[in-house]
Amino acid sequence: MARKKLMRFKWNDEVHNLFQPEKDNYKFYKGKWNEYFTNSNPIVLEVGCGRAEYTTGLAALNPNINYIGLDIKGARLWKGSSLSIETGLTNTAFIRTKLQNLEEFFEPNEVDGIWITFPDPKPREGEAKLRLSGLRFMNIYRRMMPKGGKVFFKTDNRILFDHTLEVLTNPDLKIANLIFTHDLYNSEMLSEHHDIQTTYEKTYLKQGVLINYLRFDFLPI
Ligand SMILES: C[S@@+](CC[C@H](N)C(=O)[O-])C[C@H]1O[C@@H](n2cnc3c(N)ncnc32)[C@H](O)[C@@H]1O
Repeated sequence: MARKKLMRFKWNDEVHNLFQPEKDNYKFYKGKWNEYFTNSNPIVLEVGCGRAEYTTGLAALNPNINYIGLDIKGARLWKGSSLSIETGLTNTAFIRTKLQNLEEFFEPNEVDGIWITFPDPKPREGEAKLRLSGLRFMNIYRRMMPKGGKVFFKTDNRILFDHTLEVLTNPDLKIANLIFTHDLYNSEMLSEHHDIQTTYEKTYLKQGVLINYLRFDFLPI
């Protein structure tokens, strides 16, 4: 394995703000993230966070909100974890997990919002249940936020975006206040992305690809 990657994995093993399977406290904070953050501020997740630009960017903008980035790839999570330590962000944490296991880390109502940032489009029919904005994952997010919560979604991929809009017509999801654009950078909704660009987004923008964005609320049930 490359030396740089090994050093990152060593960091991940030792640092307090990153939770991964090898650690005793991997799932310890389920239902008590307030103890980890030592406050009861709202918690917002970034799923499939990669290098976690939203987790760290929003955490810097909103010190009274806690942000948790989740991804399966440790070398990417290292970026958010190390940047948080370097810049003194105490309102971030990172979890290495498959998102299928999200509910093993949070009790219902422990999470107030979720950002889905440039997920893999998983275009084949048989991959539909792996789409982080597909019905399977929307149902997971819905179960996590019975008292209500916000979801934000950004993608370059128009097919995935339109599929997501279709998913959101499912009445069982009980959503409201859906707004969306197929061209974020020429939209009145531009300020909603907080001027934060992810690694994948920067690549697509250089290629001249339009960025789709939506947000909605889960209603209390
Ligand atoms: C296309 S990348 C986008 C990364 C980042 N959000 C960005 O915009 O730069 C998708 C990320 O989702 C993660 N991912 C995809 N499916 C996942 C799953 N089921 N569980 C955990 N992570 C997943 C990948 O490891 C990858 O880092």
